[in-house]
Amino acid sequence: DARDQGQSIALTAQVGKTSFFPGRESVTLGFNGSYLGPTLRVHRGDEVEVAVRNALGEDTTVHWHGLLIPGELDGGPHQTIRPGSTWRPVLPIRQPAATLWYHSHMHGRTGEQVYAGLAGLLIVSDDDERALGLPSEYGVDDLPLILQDRQFENGTLILPQGMMSTMHGRRGDTLMVNGTVNPVARVPRGLVRLRLVNGSNAREYDLAFADDRPFHWIASEGGLLEKPVELRSLRLAPGERAEILADFSDGRPATLETGPDGNLSMMMGMMRGAANLLGGNGREAVIQFEPQGKAALDSKVPERLLAHERPDVSKAVRRRRFVMNMGMGNMMRGGMGMLSINGRAFDMGRVDEQIRLGDTEIWEVTGEMMAHPFHIHGVHFEVLSRNGAAPGIRDQGLRDTVVAQEPVELLVKFTQTAVASPFMYHCHILEHEDNGMMGQFVVS
Ligand code: C2O
Ligand code: CU
Ligand code: CU
Repeated sequence: DARDQGQSIALTAQVGKTSFFPGRESVTLGFNGSYLGPTLRVHRGDEVEVAVRNALGEDTTVHWHGLLIPGELDGGPHQTIRPGSTWRPVLPIRQPAATLWYHSHMHGRTGEQVYAGLAGLLIVSDDDERALGLPSEYGVDDLPLILQDRQFENGTLILPQGMMSTMHGRRGDTLMVNGTVNPVARVPRGLVRLRLVNGSNAREYDLAFADDRPFHWIASEGGLLEKPVELRSLRLAPGERAEILADFSDGRPATLETGPDGNLSMMMGMMRGAANLLGGNGREAVIQFEPQGKAALDSKVPERLLAHERPDVSKAVRRRRFVMNMGMGNMMRGGMGMLSINGRAFDMGRVDEQIRLGDTEIWEVTGEMMAHPFHIHGVHFEVLSRNGAAPGIRDQGLRDTVVAQEPVELLVKFTQTAVASPFMYHCHILEHEDNGMMGQFVVS
């Protein structure tokens, strides 16, 4: 479902029933429908009037992940929408074309609400991007792919609970794209743009085509790269997005696959490793593509995309350090782990960092025990280094989410104010976020 909503958007968060498997109904949540929400398409320069109505029986919020807007419009945990009421932010779109998304950010309930379906895609377009002539016919050669893993019991969606779900995040043994199990996409014989969104609560994907065909990575979270990067595989952590161009001009069907669910702590990893030894290499189909029609005449990947300024480290006025803690010490002593950042679990009433509007800073981020996707609201940043070395090819471009385990240094520029409603930074494994691995900052 996609419409060019342009200047005004109406979303209703509602409870519904979804048949993921024939004859089996699950109770789910969605925006304007039973599971997920419509793709919202906005253009740089727009002032978009939004009305978000909460028709759930519980509080919710809607966060615009990746949108550069002031804190009080951001839809974080401070912008609670009570059942029966409507939130009406006006969103100024002032950033380059990019694939963003929106989702519930209700503190303590984000993981459950997103797992049940409260998420959708948000596409920003602009004239620079249009001038490049990239595939842009929505639903034809420009496809949104929201990747999620979910757990079913007898064909009905269930919500995993318990200690393992808290520590590793809610996962599932069934992969879905845009809410569809075993998806097949009919595509034209030519270049197709895939907007990949990792909308899983916790699972990482290691994507590659089954026939190992190359593809071109063209955009990171913040928008277009300087030039396309040819890849054969791409890792995508929760909250991350990537746009790629896949070439189907040979007319042969192709399957996009993922590697096994690898981002687990040591203990769980060992259990999973033993299972994989018994059950093959663990690669699974994500989506199948069936090319149709005549071969396109001009499926050329552009040579250049968008020029970027080089990151200027000399502009950084200070350095802050963040460690995403799993509470190892506690667990060793036999207690529950305590998820936190720098040893402090999230507290709605505590502002953790104060930042001056317009400043550039270096944030050094590390994660304990496993890879944690670190996300910062209200900014785009660049990766300066990873584990003390120059960043790799996949770390380039403007981002809002980045995987951290070994230290990464980020160059962050703060261009949006957040005073009464602070911005969040957190691990995008939603159960980590819900259970304390989050902090907040004001910008003024
Ligand atoms: Cu995608 Cu704080 O969120
Ligand atoms: Cu966000
Ligand atoms: Cu985490």
